[in-house]
Amino acid sequence: MDGKQNENSKMKTVIVTGGNRGIGLEICRQLDNLGFTVVLGSRDLKKGKEAAKPLSDHVIVKQLDVTLDESVLNLFEFINSEFGILDLLINNAGINPRHISDENGLLSRVKYIMEKKFPGVRRMVQPMAPLLRTSGIVPLKKTAKDVSLTRVKEIMETNFYGPWRMIQSFIPLLLKSGDGRIINMSSGMGELNSLSGDYPGYRLSKSSLNALTIMFSNELKESGIKVNAMCPGWVKTDMGGPDAPLHVSQGADTAVWLATEKEIPTGKFFRERNEINW
Ligand SMILES: NC(=O)c1ccc[n+]([C@@H]2O[C@H](COP(=O)([O-])OP(=O)(O)OC[C@H]3O[C@@H](n4cnc5c(N)ncnc54)[C@H](OP(=O)(O)O)[C@@H]3O)[C@@H](O)[C@H]2O)c1
Repeated sequence: MDGKQNENSKMKTVIVTGGNRGIGLEICRQLDNLGFTVVLGSRDLKKGKEAAKPLSDHVIVKQLDVTLDESVLNLFEFINSEFGILDLLINNAGINPRHISDENGLLSRVKYIMEKKFPGVRRMVQPMAPLLRTSGIVPLKKTAKDVSLTRVKEIMETNFYGPWRMIQSFIPLLLKSGDGRIINMSSGMGELNSLSGDYPGYRLSKSSLNALTIMFSNELKESGIKVNAMCPGWVKTDMGGPDAPLHVSQGADTAVWLATEKEIPTGKFFRERNEINW
């Protein structure tokens, strides 16, 4: 859809949370090309501005940490005074702490550094992982039975309460759109029929986000605001890692489709533009 001016998207205003890199940045890029006024939310304003350099003047970069009431309120006040309306909220920001914490052990952190700095060496060390684990040199994967609940709460704060906070805050402006839409960036890891104990915090956060999607889609049905969740697939980003098969443009596709398609349902879960099971 790149480069085409879509009638349905002309002058519409969208917020993309976590817009400074990965799938969020790609969604911003594609919606910018389609003529949306894009508000790119970034925890670190400097990083957001740097990321938005190749994008057009219609992209406005704003500081946004979805875990903080004050940050969300500041964004609300800006959008309210600047536009008085919001057409689309894309709750994309998310964390999967296998990269940055102990949810799945030291090995994951080592792997992450390897992926970044020495991709070749990582592939050589990878086969030794089971041996390192059974020998106790690196801890076994944390699962639901032993994960730190403090860490689980941190993940929930970003991936679940963050979108909830954003939705509560922006409903008044979405109501003014007449075609308000909310897209929650979920994951197949949260699908109920495939839940397992690995990455327990992340899985729980995405299952919960799906439940929130259903809850709000029903609550907002009468108002006309459509609320859907989607899985981008396994995408090559900082989170997805270098082995992921999909490019960010593929990961962003369903979100852009949900943003621009003339008629969309509400209360559904999508992957590759198709409805999937919760
Ligand atoms: N990549 C995949 O394979 C995959 C698969 C399924 C679902 N997803 C979902 O897709 C979404 C985007 O993932 P990605 O792969 O693009 O990840 P990513 O490259 O790690 O980017 C995550 C983005 O979220 C932002 N973020 C994190 N915490 C935040 C907070 N408290 N407030 C605001 N922004 C915050 C990050 O900002 P900083 O730069 O400040 O950290 C970054 O911009 C996530 O919800 C993820 O769960 C990804």
